[in-house]
Amino acid sequence: MKKLENKVAVITGANSGIGLATAKLYLEQGAKVVLAGRRLDALEEVAQDLDGDFITVRADVAKAEDNKRLIDETTKKYGKIDILFLNAGVAPPTPADQITEEHYNYVFDINVKGPILATKVALPHLNDGGSILFTNSVVTQRGFEGLGVYSASKGALRAYQRVLTAEVKPRKIRVNSIAPGPIATPIYDKMGLPQETIDEMGKGFAQQVPLGRFGTPEEIAKSALFLASDDATYINGVELEVDGGLSQI
Ligand SMILES: NC(=O)c1ccc[n+]([C@@H]2O[C@H](COP(=O)([O-])OP(=O)(O)OC[C@H]3O[C@@H](n4cnc5c(N)ncnc54)[C@H](OP(=O)(O)O)[C@@H]3O)[C@@H](O)[C@H]2O)c1
Repeated sequence: MKKLENKVAVITGANSGIGLATAKLYLEQGAKVVLAGRRLDALEEVAQDLDGDFITVRADVAKAEDNKRLIDETTKKYGKIDILFLNAGVAPPTPADQITEEHYNYVFDINVKGPILATKVALPHLNDGGSILFTNSVVTQRGFEGLGVYSASKGALRAYQRVLTAEVKPRKIRVNSIAPGPIATPIYDKMGLPQETIDEMGKGFAQQVPLGRFGTPEEIAKSALFLASDDATYINGVELEVDGGLSQI
Protein backbone atom coordinates (compact mmCIF):
# COMPACT_ATOMS: atom_id res chain seq x y z
CA MET A 1 0.00 0.00 0.00
CA LYS A 2 1.36 3.39 -0.97
CA LYS A 3 1.63 5.83 1.92
CA LEU A 4 -0.07 8.86 0.32
CA GLU A 5 -2.69 7.23 -1.88
CA ASN A 6 -5.29 9.83 -2.96
CA LYS A 7 -3.75 12.59 -0.85
CA VAL A 8 -3.35 16.05 -2.39
CA ALA A 9 -0.04 17.72 -1.58
CA VAL A 10 1.09 21.27 -2.34
CA ILE A 11 4.87 21.81 -2.26
CA THR A 12 6.52 25.21 -2.60
CA GLY A 13 10.07 25.47 -3.90
CA ALA A 14 9.37 22.22 -5.76
CA ASN A 15 11.58 22.80 -8.79
CA SER A 16 14.81 22.19 -6.91
CA GLY A 17 16.59 20.46 -4.04
CA ILE A 18 14.50 19.29 -1.09
CA GLY A 19 11.16 20.30 -2.63
CA LEU A 20 11.82 18.42 -5.86
CA ALA A 21 13.06 15.27 -4.08
CA THR A 22 9.92 15.36 -1.93
CA ALA A 23 7.63 15.88 -4.92
CA LYS A 24 9.15 12.80 -6.57
CA LEU A 25 8.75 10.69 -3.43
CA TYR A 26 5.17 11.88 -2.81
CA LEU A 27 4.27 11.00 -6.41
CA GLU A 28 5.83 7.55 -6.00
CA GLN A 29 3.70 7.12 -2.91
CA GLY A 30 0.47 7.85 -4.76
CA ALA A 31 -0.11 11.53 -3.94
CA LYS A 32 -1.49 14.09 -6.36
CA VAL A 33 1.13 16.83 -6.22
CA VAL A 34 1.08 20.55 -6.96
CA LEU A 35 4.63 21.68 -7.61
CA ALA A 36 5.04 25.41 -7.06
CA GLY A 37 8.05 27.50 -7.99
CA ARG A 38 8.89 31.05 -8.92
CA ARG A 39 10.44 30.19 -12.34
CA LEU A 40 8.24 28.81 -15.10
CA ASP A 41 11.20 27.48 -17.12
CA ALA A 42 12.53 25.51 -14.14
CA LEU A 43 9.09 24.04 -13.46
CA GLU A 44 8.66 23.05 -17.10
CA GLU A 45 12.07 21.40 -17.09
CA VAL A 46 11.51 19.27 -13.99
CA ALA A 47 7.99 18.34 -15.14
CA GLN A 48 9.52 16.43 -18.06
CA ASP A 49 11.11 13.90 -15.67
CA LEU A 50 8.14 13.34 -13.38
CA ASP A 51 5.61 10.51 -13.45
CA GLY A 52 2.22 10.54 -11.81
CA ASP A 53 -0.68 12.91 -11.19
CA PHE A 54 0.69 16.45 -10.82
CA ILE A 55 0.44 20.05 -11.95
CA THR A 56 2.95 22.87 -11.80
CA VAL A 57 2.05 26.40 -10.73
CA ARG A 58 4.28 29.43 -11.06
CA ALA A 59 4.00 31.32 -7.79
CA ASP A 60 6.37 33.70 -6.05
CA VAL A 61 5.73 32.96 -2.37
CA ALA A 62 6.74 36.51 -1.42
CA LYS A 63 3.58 37.81 -3.13
CA ALA A 64 0.16 37.53 -1.53
CA GLU A 65 -1.62 37.28 -4.87
CA ASP A 66 0.63 34.41 -5.99
CA ASN A 67 -0.08 32.41 -2.84
CA LYS A 68 -3.79 32.90 -3.45
CA ARG A 69 -3.48 31.82 -7.07
CA LEU A 70 -1.49 28.76 -6.04
CA ILE A 71 -4.27 27.60 -3.75
CA ASP A 72 -6.99 28.58 -6.26
CA GLU A 73 -5.34 26.50 -9.00
CA THR A 74 -4.85 23.60 -6.59
CA THR A 75 -8.48 23.49 -5.53
CA LYS A 76 -9.70 23.98 -9.09
CA LYS A 77 -7.76 20.88 -10.15
CA TYR A 78 -7.91 18.64 -7.06
CA GLY A 79 -10.51 20.05 -4.65
CA LYS A 80 -9.32 19.87 -1.05
CA ILE A 81 -5.72 19.78 0.21
CA ASP A 82 -4.28 17.14 2.56
CA ILE A 83 -0.62 18.15 2.79
CA LEU A 84 0.78 21.67 2.64
CA PHE A 85 4.58 21.55 2.47
CA LEU A 86 5.86 25.14 2.71
CA ASN A 87 9.46 24.56 1.79
CA ALA A 88 10.58 27.45 -0.45
CA GLY A 89 13.40 29.43 1.04
CA VAL A 90 16.52 31.49 0.38
CA ALA A 91 19.73 31.84 2.39
CA PRO A 92 21.85 34.70 1.05
CA PRO A 93 24.58 35.44 3.60
CA THR A 94 25.39 38.96 4.85
CA PRO A 95 27.51 39.90 7.88
CA ALA A 96 25.70 41.85 10.63
CA ASP A 97 27.40 45.15 9.80
CA GLN A 98 26.38 44.97 6.14
CA ILE A 99 22.72 44.00 6.39
CA THR A 100 20.46 46.27 4.35
CA GLU A 101 16.73 46.79 4.52
CA GLU A 102 16.53 45.25 1.06
CA HIS A 103 18.34 42.08 2.19
CA TYR A 104 16.14 41.79 5.28
CA ASN A 105 12.93 42.26 3.29
CA TYR A 106 14.00 39.78 0.62
CA VAL A 107 14.76 37.00 3.11
CA PHE A 108 11.80 37.62 5.42
CA ASP A 109 9.32 38.03 2.54
CA ILE A 110 10.22 34.60 1.18
CA ASN A 111 11.04 32.64 4.35
CA VAL A 112 8.42 34.06 6.73
CA LYS A 113 5.74 36.08 4.97
CA GLY A 114 5.46 33.43 2.26
CA PRO A 115 4.57 30.47 4.50
CA ILE A 116 2.33 32.63 6.71
CA LEU A 117 0.27 33.94 3.78
CA ALA A 118 0.16 30.56 2.03
CA THR A 119 -1.15 28.99 5.23
CA LYS A 120 -3.81 31.68 5.55
CA VAL A 121 -5.23 31.09 2.07
CA ALA A 122 -4.86 27.30 2.26
CA LEU A 123 -6.53 26.78 5.65
CA PRO A 124 -10.14 26.89 4.39
CA HIS A 125 -9.24 24.21 1.84
CA LEU A 126 -7.23 21.89 4.08
CA ASN A 127 -8.99 18.72 5.07
CA ASP A 128 -9.52 18.23 8.80
CA GLY A 129 -6.79 15.86 9.96
CA GLY A 130 -4.47 17.23 7.28
CA SER A 131 -0.82 18.08 7.63
CA ILE A 132 1.17 21.30 7.40
CA LEU A 133 4.92 21.02 7.11
CA PHE A 134 7.58 23.75 7.11
CA THR A 135 11.22 23.49 6.13
CA ASN A 136 13.08 25.13 8.95
CA SER A 137 16.83 24.79 9.62
CA VAL A 138 19.55 23.88 12.08
CA VAL A 139 20.29 27.63 12.15
CA THR A 140 17.58 28.09 14.79
CA GLN A 141 19.84 26.15 17.17
CA ARG A 142 23.36 26.93 15.99
CA GLY A 143 24.93 30.25 14.96
CA PHE A 144 26.80 30.43 11.67
CA GLU A 145 28.61 33.63 10.67
CA GLY A 146 26.87 35.66 8.00
CA LEU A 147 23.52 33.92 8.38
CA GLY A 148 21.94 36.36 10.84
CA VAL A 149 18.88 37.38 8.84
CA TYR A 150 18.37 33.85 7.53
CA SER A 151 18.59 32.42 11.06
CA ALA A 152 16.20 35.06 12.38
CA SER A 153 13.73 34.21 9.62
CA LYS A 154 13.79 30.50 10.44
CA GLY A 155 13.46 31.30 14.16
CA ALA A 156 10.38 33.36 13.35
CA LEU A 157 8.93 30.49 11.36
CA ARG A 158 9.50 28.11 14.29
CA ALA A 159 7.66 30.48 16.63
CA TYR A 160 4.81 30.85 14.15
CA GLN A 161 4.56 27.06 13.86
CA ARG A 162 3.87 26.75 17.61
CA VAL A 163 1.00 29.22 17.46
CA LEU A 164 -0.45 27.63 14.35
CA THR A 165 -0.32 24.21 16.02
CA ALA A 166 -2.56 25.61 18.77
CA GLU A 167 -4.90 27.48 16.42
CA VAL A 168 -5.71 24.49 14.18
CA LYS A 169 -6.20 21.99 16.98
CA PRO A 170 -10.02 21.97 16.69
CA ARG A 171 -9.51 20.61 13.17
CA LYS A 172 -6.88 18.01 14.15
CA ILE A 173 -4.47 19.42 11.58
CA ARG A 174 -0.87 18.53 12.45
CA VAL A 175 1.80 21.22 12.06
CA ASN A 176 5.37 20.00 11.96
CA SER A 177 8.68 21.22 10.62
CA ILE A 178 11.90 19.67 9.44
CA ALA A 179 15.19 21.29 10.42
CA PRO A 180 17.82 20.12 7.95
CA GLY A 181 21.53 20.44 8.54
CA PRO A 182 23.73 21.05 5.49
CA ILE A 183 22.06 19.36 2.53
CA ALA A 184 23.61 19.14 -0.93
CA THR A 185 21.20 21.28 -2.94
CA PRO A 186 21.56 24.21 -5.37
CA ILE A 187 20.87 26.67 -2.50
CA TYR A 188 24.61 27.13 -2.00
CA ASP A 189 25.16 28.10 -5.65
CA LYS A 190 22.49 30.80 -5.24
CA MET A 191 24.25 32.52 -2.32
CA GLY A 192 26.14 34.92 -4.60
CA LEU A 193 29.55 33.72 -3.34
CA PRO A 194 32.63 32.67 -5.36
CA GLN A 195 32.88 28.88 -5.93
CA GLU A 196 36.04 28.72 -3.81
CA THR A 197 34.24 30.24 -0.83
CA ILE A 198 31.32 27.85 -1.27
CA ASP A 199 33.69 24.87 -1.35
CA GLU A 200 35.48 26.07 1.81
CA MET A 201 32.18 26.69 3.57
CA GLY A 202 30.99 23.22 2.52
CA LYS A 203 34.08 21.55 3.97
CA GLY A 204 33.66 23.49 7.19
CA PHE A 205 30.00 22.46 7.57
CA ALA A 206 30.72 18.81 6.80
CA GLN A 207 33.49 18.68 9.43
CA GLN A 208 31.13 19.97 12.09
CA VAL A 209 28.47 17.33 11.40
CA PRO A 210 28.97 14.24 13.61
CA LEU A 211 28.24 12.03 10.58
CA GLY A 212 30.97 13.94 8.70
CA ARG A 213 29.06 14.72 5.52
CA PHE A 214 26.32 16.73 3.87
CA GLY A 215 22.88 15.14 3.76
CA THR A 216 20.99 14.52 0.54
CA PRO A 217 17.66 16.03 -0.51
CA GLU A 218 16.31 12.47 -0.64
CA GLU A 219 17.10 12.01 3.07
CA ILE A 220 14.99 15.07 3.85
CA ALA A 221 12.23 13.89 1.50
CA LYS A 222 11.94 10.65 3.49
CA SER A 223 11.31 12.67 6.65
CA ALA A 224 8.78 14.84 4.80
CA LEU A 225 7.00 11.64 3.77
CA PHE A 226 7.05 10.26 7.30
CA LEU A 227 5.70 13.43 8.91
CA ALA A 228 2.93 13.87 6.31
CA SER A 229 1.87 10.22 6.36
CA ASP A 230 -0.25 8.13 8.69
CA ASP A 231 2.98 6.81 10.23
CA ALA A 232 3.14 10.09 12.16
CA THR A 233 -0.47 10.53 13.29
CA TYR A 234 0.56 11.41 16.88
CA ILE A 235 3.46 13.68 15.95
CA ASN A 236 2.41 17.30 16.13
CA GLY A 237 4.11 20.63 16.70
CA VAL A 238 7.63 19.23 16.51
CA GLU A 239 10.72 20.37 14.71
CA LEU A 240 12.47 17.23 13.47
CA GLU A 241 16.21 17.71 13.16
CA VAL A 242 17.56 15.87 10.11
CA ASP A 243 21.10 17.11 10.39
CA GLY A 244 23.49 14.23 11.04
CA GLY A 245 23.58 15.33 14.69
CA LEU A 246 24.83 18.88 14.04
CA SER A 247 22.31 20.56 16.34
CA GLN A 248 23.15 18.22 19.23
CA ILE A 249 26.86 18.85 19.77
N1 LIG B 1 20.28 22.92 1.68
C1 LIG B 1 20.52 23.16 2.97
O1 LIG B 1 21.64 22.99 3.45
C2 LIG B 1 19.39 23.61 3.87
C3 LIG B 1 19.60 23.54 5.24
C4 LIG B 1 18.58 23.95 6.09
C5 LIG B 1 17.38 24.40 5.58
N2 LIG B 1 17.21 24.46 4.24
C6 LIG B 1 15.93 24.95 3.75
O2 LIG B 1 15.40 24.01 2.83
C7 LIG B 1 14.47 24.67 1.97
C8 LIG B 1 14.71 24.20 0.55
O3 LIG B 1 16.00 24.62 0.16
P1 LIG B 1 16.97 23.72 -0.74
O4 LIG B 1 18.18 23.47 0.04
O5 LIG B 1 16.24 22.61 -1.34
O6 LIG B 1 17.42 24.81 -1.83
P2 LIG B 1 16.99 25.05 -3.34
O7 LIG B 1 17.37 23.84 -4.14
O8 LIG B 1 17.52 26.36 -3.73
O9 LIG B 1 15.41 25.09 -3.24
C9 LIG B 1 14.74 26.23 -2.76
C10 LIG B 1 13.49 26.36 -3.55
O10 LIG B 1 12.75 27.51 -3.09
C11 LIG B 1 12.43 28.27 -4.24
N3 LIG B 1 12.19 29.68 -3.95
C12 LIG B 1 13.04 30.60 -3.50
N4 LIG B 1 12.45 31.80 -3.43
C13 LIG B 1 11.18 31.61 -3.87
C14 LIG B 1 10.06 32.47 -4.06
N5 LIG B 1 10.13 33.79 -3.80
N6 LIG B 1 8.91 31.94 -4.52
C15 LIG B 1 8.82 30.62 -4.79
N7 LIG B 1 9.85 29.76 -4.67
C16 LIG B 1 11.00 30.27 -4.21
C17 LIG B 1 13.63 28.09 -5.15
O11 LIG B 1 13.37 28.56 -6.45
P3 LIG B 1 14.60 28.94 -7.44
O12 LIG B 1 15.08 27.62 -7.99
O13 LIG B 1 13.96 29.82 -8.43
O14 LIG B 1 15.64 29.61 -6.60
C18 LIG B 1 13.79 26.59 -5.04
O15 LIG B 1 12.82 25.93 -5.80
C19 LIG B 1 14.66 26.16 2.21
O16 LIG B 1 13.61 26.65 3.00
C20 LIG B 1 15.97 26.23 2.96
O17 LIG B 1 16.05 27.36 3.78
C21 LIG B 1 18.18 24.06 3.35
